Amino acid sequence: MAITQDEELIFKPLTPSIGAEVQGVDLTVEIDDVQFQRILDAWISWGVLIFRDQALDLEQHVALGRRFGELYSHILPDAKTPPGYPEVIELHTDAHSERAGGESWHTDVSADEEPPMASILHITETPDTGGDTLFASMNAVYDDLSGPMKSFLSGLTATHRASRGYNAVHDRNQPQGPSTVPLGGWEFPDSHHPVIRTHPVTGRHSVYVNTIYTSHIDELAPDESDSILAVLLERIHNPRYQCRVQWRKNTVVLWDNRCVQHHAVWDYFPKLRHGNRVTIKGDRPFFSPPA
Ligand code: SIN
Repeated sequence: MAITQDEELIFKPLTPSIGAEVQGVDLTVEIDDVQFQRILDAWISWGVLIFRDQALDLEQHVALGRRFGELYSHILPDAKTPPGYPEVIELHTDAHSERAGGESWHTDVSADEEPPMASILHITETPDTGGDTLFASMNAVYDDLSGPMKSFLSGLTATHRASRGYNAVHDRNQPQGPSTVPLGGWEFPDSHHPVIRTHPVTGRHSVYVNTIYTSHIDELAPDESDSILAVLLERIHNPRYQCRVQWRKNTVVLWDNRCVQHHAVWDYFPKLRHGNRVTIKGDRPFFSPPA
């Protein structure tokens, strides 16, 4: 496996298409511009970066997020945030939990008109085993579609519905799909995003529909939409597109919501897992045809 080393920073790819572990950086202090640019470039290349042994406090976590852009506050009115840190979401699961966040393939808050570009999760407590997070490269999923399928999907849009994520949450008795557990009953407008999204930095295309938020493809009949979505969402399950992060205390993971999906595995009940996530604002997804 290739290891890229420049001065202090070492990048160790996890797979050929997604994920790299980064060594030689301390995220608790301000990163200089040269190191930051290398981390940014690596993140754009691998989609997911893993940093071990980073004992960030909330202030440092927020400061790290701000290096990447303006921070995003979650649209859910009762998102759990630590006092004084509205931009930080607490992810906590223990013996009393009835659900765990993100336990299906998704990209964060894709139901927003301008979904967050990036997420930075810092896990502070983790069970001895379990509680991993899977990540999938949606660029790689797109690349492996046939030419006619790519053409067919180009220019189509899909509806992303917040209520699928927030009013129908996932419980541990039904890990594969939305349950009917009501959560708040808030109303949020739908968003319509291209089914194939162009990455604003790399220009690469990715499949931009997900299990949690996408309800249907706008231009198709309901049965056609269900069938096409089933084909696309099934592809994500192929391990060749994935990497898997095994968390340890003080692991920090940065992912690119524009071209990566993730799935948190709740296989550790009734044990405790705790972390904080900072999310960075993104722009409106768009599609530009291949040149
Ligand atoms: C999420 O951000 O969707 C949850 C990820 C995780 O808990 O690993």
